[in-house]
Amino acid sequence: MKLKSSYWQLKNNQEDIEILNKAAHIIKNNGLVAFPTETVYGLGANGLSSVAVEKIFLAKGRPSDNPLILHIAEKKDVYSLAKNISINAEKLMDAFWPGPLTVILPKQGHIPDAVTAGLNTVAIRMPKNDVARDFIRLCQVPIAAPSANISGRPSPTDATTVQKDLDGKVDAIIDGGQANIGLESTVVDCTSDECIILRPGGITKEQLEKVVAVKSATQIESDKTPKAPGMKYKHYSPKASVYLFTEEFLQSNILFLLEFFEQKQWKVGVLASQEVLQKLPKEIISFGGWQCDKTDDLAKNLYRWLRDFDKCGVEIILVSSVRTDNIGQAIMNRLEKAAQTKIIENKQDFDSVFA
Ligand code: TXA
Ligand code: MG
Repeated sequence: MKLKSSYWQLKNNQEDIEILNKAAHIIKNNGLVAFPTETVYGLGANGLSSVAVEKIFLAKGRPSDNPLILHIAEKKDVYSLAKNISINAEKLMDAFWPGPLTVILPKQGHIPDAVTAGLNTVAIRMPKNDVARDFIRLCQVPIAAPSANISGRPSPTDATTVQKDLDGKVDAIIDGGQANIGLESTVVDCTSDECIILRPGGITKEQLEKVVAVKSATQIESDKTPKAPGMKYKHYSPKASVYLFTEEFLQSNILFLLEFFEQKQWKVGVLASQEVLQKLPKEIISFGGWQCDKTDDLAKNLYRWLRDFDKCGVEIILVSSVRTDNIGQAIMNRLEKAAQTKIIENKQDFDSVFA
């Protein structure tokens, strides 16, 4: 692999197609290309080549028992990759593709074990991003792609962040601007009669429920269902330690908390709603500022803000929780994984963590 990855910025003109052709050429030669999607940037390789797919695991430092999503450009492509597709799966694909929904289906035999981590199921999604779909079409193969970050770090929502994590580890990075949604796709297991959300994401439970009955994996005893293997790993973590508080506790105690950490000489950052931020002294590094439960903006910027705290040298990030309806469910899922402890609700919880 070369020392620097090629970095290609799309400009919405005719040169773009040449760039995508060069990128497709890399994929056909079993190389790695990072590309934009509507959720987060993906680290793509030829999904039918074990040699190519193994390079993804190496570049990211990803555990090999964590399977990848195959990205396709058209719905018809799903039939050569999966079999015994249920009516519910059809309904979900029709309703939400292209879009941030990944379906888990029984796999066809020719899909490499490296993609599925040896499972007999495969994850498939059709992204809602023109660059992504044009690129996949030109590659003429399904594109295996995890998020384009070093394993465990927050997923990248723009190309320069991909470059920071993966420069020299991938052949090329396509810069197609900022990802719209900012959190990954919703992963739904459609291999049995009951559809199960393995990972909350860009399509909300409320949206899914309008189409088929769904359960969350957490509602089901864990030994009955194979959850998304990826969900067991530490994830979405900035270098700073993240502590999650209820909005109420943070609002009423923010000044006490700042004083407490100042005495310990820890550099604190705050990610919280408008109500909390307006109580902060000017010198405190803070992001967020959402109002009430308007959290789309938080979803879109969450990963960037977590990385920005690191850039500012923050050691400890105090985060206020949000309601778990709509996109709030995916936000809280990511925050809980980034956090060191369960949500701190009261003084007793606080003392047990920091005393
Ligand atoms: O939005 C997204 O989904 C982004 C963009 C790039 O498409 N991709 C992404 O990929 O988030 P990744 O690899 O970071 O997450 C894929 C998740 C993991 O939790 C993995 O364990 C799960 O999907 N998964 C993949 N194949 C599976 C399978 N056959 N059964 C259960 N879970 C699976
Ligand atoms: Mg990921």
